[in-house]
Amino acid sequence: MNPNPSKLPLVLITHTLPDDWMAALRGRLRAVIGPLDATSLAPELEAHLADAEGLFCLLTIPLRKGLLDRMPCLRVISNMAVGVDNVDVAACTARRIPVGNTPGVLTDATADLTMSILLSAARRLPESAQDARTGHWKTWSPTGWLGADLRGATLGIVGLGKIGRAVAERARGFGLRIVYTDTSPRPDVAAELGATFLSFDELLRQSDFVSLHCPLTSETRGLINEAALRRMKPTAILVNAARGPVVDTAALTRALAEGRIAAAALDVTDPEPLPPDHTLYSLPNCLIIPHIGSATRGTRRRMAEMACENLLAGLEGRRLPYCVNPQVYEDPFSSKETGS
Ligand code: GLV
Repeated sequence: MNPNPSKLPLVLITHTLPDDWMAALRGRLRAVIGPLDATSLAPELEAHLADAEGLFCLLTIPLRKGLLDRMPCLRVISNMAVGVDNVDVAACTARRIPVGNTPGVLTDATADLTMSILLSAARRLPESAQDARTGHWKTWSPTGWLGADLRGATLGIVGLGKIGRAVAERARGFGLRIVYTDTSPRPDVAAELGATFLSFDELLRQSDFVSLHCPLTSETRGLINEAALRRMKPTAILVNAARGPVVDTAALTRALAEGRIAAAALDVTDPEPLPPDHTLYSLPNCLIIPHIGSATRGTRRRMAEMACENLLAGLEGRRLPYCVNPQVYEDPFSSKETGS
């Protein structure tokens, strides 16, 4: 028997996604859906903030306290991303609203993309492809488009979480020596990868490639600033497939323009999108792509499906299968710490 549709919970879905990705939601809720290309909360969604019980959103939509204040009925937020820096998780926890994300499923796609842009920058593919296309390929040049060797070079991984580890696994196949830094050493996983723990400064000093895989937090915002860039080798290549604001864009632009580091490969930028007239695009040693780390057909579909699972669990009062603030399930009157 079909439930009475008017009794179904009202959910705001910030973007129109393929029907087959969202199939699990059919008949389980009433949805108000924003356009695929929305860059902020669409007006048709704004009109329903007061009644919405669920919110399914992308990482481009900031969910701050002011918005939460306008959503008194909200019982679940499902972010179709592993990163939740767009969500004020502390404010959600204070309101006992569970926040879901999509961990694990995008690890391989993001690690593959990281290696692609690292290799592209190392072998100067953007410049050489452009030169081929524009008639600058006159002959096989023994000294033209020389890039960096990988075997024996050092890759510094900042953040040895799931994606950092998957990058390390791949990098070993290219003969790179792996060093890493994190909030603390991770001897268990590092031993398997043959990765050596270094302080952040020492990692910058030793690495030929620095690849960022940390979440964006108040500690990591601007981590790669002027001082950090000055510690890197002049031959070093910076790779960012994490979050744009981990790097100070102005400082990076100066470092690349002045040749203080060799190149950068960026899947993410600050701001995002980077305006088309930004100086970084004019630098031949900077590769910029539009935040496509998880953009494979299978991965994006699975992310949407996981986000649907989270949304439905929250609406039905079940524990979210992928929850970033499990404290919302703790007994508010218990003083016991759960350490989860
Ligand atoms: C992508 O950047 C994500 O966080 O899922």
